[in-house]
Amino acid sequence: MKKLLVGALLVLVFLAYSLPPYLTGGSRVPLDDQPNWYYGLLVGHILLGSVAMLAGLVQLGRRWFAKYHWIAGRIYVACALPVGLAAIAIGTVTPFGPVNAASNVTLGSLMLLFTALGVRAIVGGDVAAHRRWMLRSAALMYSVIINRILGPIIFLVLDAAGAPSSMTDAVGPALVAWPSWLIAIGFCEWWLRRTPPKRRRVAGTPARNGEDPLRPGSERVSLGGGGGI
Ligand code: HEM
Repeated sequence: MKKLLVGALLVLVFLAYSLPPYLTGGSRVPLDDQPNWYYGLLVGHILLGSVAMLAGLVQLGRRWFAKYHWIAGRIYVACALPVGLAAIAIGTVTPFGPVNAASNVTLGSLMLLFTALGVRAIVGGDVAAHRRWMLRSAALMYSVIINRILGPIIFLVLDAAGAPSSMTDAVGPALVAWPSWLIAIGFCEWWLRRTPPKRRRVAGTPARNGEDPLRPGSERVSLGGGGGI
C-alpha cells in the first residue's frame, strides 16, 4: 500500500504541475512554428493522458481495488489508444529536434503495441501475459514523470559543465527523452523478473465463448495477487 500511495502522490503532483497551462489555453511547448492541428491534439493528449494515469493507479493497486479492475482497465485502454496516436502525431513535428522526434515516435508506438498485446492476452485468457504487457504499457505511460524530473537535472549538468547554450538546446532534449523511458522499461523488466505471478496460466473455459475475462467473478480472473504493486 505504501508503494501505491507514493506512486499516487507522484502522479497527483505531476498532474497538478502539468495540467494548469493547458486548461487555460496556454502551453509549455513552443507553438510558433507548429501546424494548426498541433495544439488541439496536444491538449487532447494531455487530458486523456491524465485519465489514463489515474485509471492506471487503480490497476496497479489491484490488491485493494480488484472490483474496479475491469472498468478501470477499459478506461485505461480507451485513453491509451488516442494518447499514443496523438503522441506519435505531435511527436513527429516536435520543436525539440529529430532525435527527440524519434524517441517520441518509438515510445508512443511501443506503448500502443504493449497495450494491444495486453488486451490480446486477456481476451485469450492468459492473465500472466496480460499482467506483463500491461505493466510494460504502464511503465511507458508513467515514464513521462521521469522525463519531467530528468529534464532540469540534465540541463543543470550541461550548464555546470560549461556547455554552450546552442549545444544544450541541440542535445539536451534528446538526452532527456531517450533515457526517461528506457529507465522506466528497464526498471519494469527487472521488477517483472523479481516478482513472477503466483499462477502463470489460468484454468477455465476457452477464451472466445462470450464471457468477459475482465469482469469480476469471471472464472479466468484468478491471478494470485501478482497483478498490482
Ligand atoms: C506514451 C507516452 C507518451 C508520449 C510518447 C508522449 C509524447 C509527447 C509529445 C511528443 C509531446 C509534445 C512535446 C514534444 O514535442 O516533446 C508531449 C507533451 C506533453 N505530454 Fe506527453 N507523451 C506521453 C504520455 C503522456 C502522459 C501519460 C501524460 C499525462 C498527462 C503526458 C503529458 C504531457 C504534457 C503535460 C505535455 C506538454 C509538455 C509540458 O507541458 O510539459 N504525456 N507528450
